[in-house]
Amino acid sequence: MRALAGLRVVVSAGPTFEDIDPVRFIGNRSSGKMGFAIAAAAARRGADVQLVSGPVALATPDGVSRIDVRSAAQMHAAVFAALPADVYIGAAAVADFRPRAPATAKIKKRPGEDSMVLHLVRNADILADVAASDVRPRLVVGFAAETDEVTQHARAKLSTKGADLIAANRVGIAGRGFEADDNVLVLHWRDGSRTLPPGAKTALADALLDLVQERLEA
Ligand code: C5P
Repeated sequence: MRALAGLRVVVSAGPTFEDIDPVRFIGNRSSGKMGFAIAAAAARRGADVQLVSGPVALATPDGVSRIDVRSAAQMHAAVFAALPADVYIGAAAVADFRPRAPATAKIKKRPGEDSMVLHLVRNADILADVAASDVRPRLVVGFAAETDEVTQHARAKLSTKGADLIAANRVGIAGRGFEADDNVLVLHWRDGSRTLPPGAKTALADALLDLVQERLEA
């Protein structure tokens, strides 16, 4: 099955870490398993796959070219450096905010200090920027990890982010979503929704790519 031969697919995966000081960071709970499974499945189908990964403990899938990044800003730059592409799949859990001014030395607690204020600034939205760029891939796919009102949030993201597909999953359920091997994904296209059979992230990655392929061929 080499159905994606000749196509370039860029996948972002894992969390981003936003440094507070040299020993602390703000990060998202993401193992990178979903994005890595997608990159592996796309490579098996013959695509030229560029994986941009945040800090994760996963081996690079066979046939995949990988760039490691740490922060959202680095991920943004690496994704844009990997374009143009036919498909962009943003499966990373990107931090929405970063410390405005990371400290260059470890921040020490002072006696009597009961609270501290950390000033955060908004990170650029990689998915929205890719979708709005003049090298927009033919298909732009995002993920939505939500704890509630999953469908409403996912459908809203189709338009706010300019994506063609949002793959939504509910997080906060034991054994599913973050860090787990299994997941439940509901795919939201502009013209309808489809629930994939729940299962291993590797199987979901293949099911997702079947539908991506269908759209590319349409
Ligand atoms: O807005 P939210 O983070 O829920 O949207 C999730 C989707 O947007 C994911 O596909 C994620 O990779 C992408 N995203 C991004 N850049 C950000 C925030 C989210 O690409 N700064």
